[in-house]
Amino acid sequence: MILVTGASGNAGRAVVDEMRRSGVPFRAMYRSQEDARKASTGVSTVIADFSSRESMKGALTAVDSVYLVCSPIPALVELESKVIDASREKGVKHLVLNSALGAGDYPKSFPAWHRIVEDKLKASGLAFTILRPNSFMQNILSYVAPSIRQQGAFFAAMGDARTSYLDLRDIAAVIPGCSRRPVSIWARLMN
Ligand SMILES: NC(=O)c1ccc[n+]([C@@H]2O[C@H](COP(=O)([O-])OP(=O)(O)OC[C@H]3O[C@@H](n4cnc5c(N)ncnc54)[C@H](OP(=O)(O)O)[C@@H]3O)[C@@H](O)[C@H]2O)c1
Repeated sequence: MILVTGASGNAGRAVVDEMRRSGVPFRAMYRSQEDARKASTGVSTVIADFSSRESMKGALTAVDSVYLVCSPIPALVELESKVIDASREKGVKHLVLNSALGAGDYPKSFPAWHRIVEDKLKASGLAFTILRPNSFMQNILSYVAPSIRQQGAFFAAMGDARTSYLDLRDIAAVIPGCSRRPVSIWARLMN
């Protein structure tokens, strides 16, 4: 059984969709009943908050693997650290941490927060996988599509720099136990 946290968020929602398609047993974790009610029919849900030890103990019952993702806020260090501790206590075997590109060498803002959690996970004794995605392709719809519609242009504060984009569905594809094929690589093969 895989616990998918952050199921109401961008990454977690995509992981839930791909897990459902792959048929792997999983439980989707939400913070509110309102969000849990939006889950697709047949998806097993649980309500919990990273900050609540008791609720996390319930969410982690009979769970082998955890996909851990949190909003990019400073509190993610404390919140995700609590989940790592609770996972160890509950006998979880493997934890997949959704970190971010830059966690290796960028000492500020959310990459630095992710790095602290990565180090905590590495020292925890749990088997782990750390994912360091760069920008999500789906951000284009949220952030860029409006200016393309209105002005026929999009803008980014990056000069001549290049950036890589990741299709959110590919996060699920690399979670151990999920049998989905990576979308981006598949798309390249098809071309
Ligand atoms: N956006 C990008 O392009 C990008 C690129 C690389 C890496 N990342 C990283 O990817 C991660 C996820 O991004 P995202 O866009 O999916 O974030 P998001 O949409 O904000 O989703 C975050 C999820 O965490 C949940 N959460 C927050 N606090 C919680 C708590 N105390 N207990 C339980 N759940 C809690 C949220 O639940 P609620 O809905 O209830 O708040 C939500 O489901 C971030 O850490 C970010 O640094 C993002």
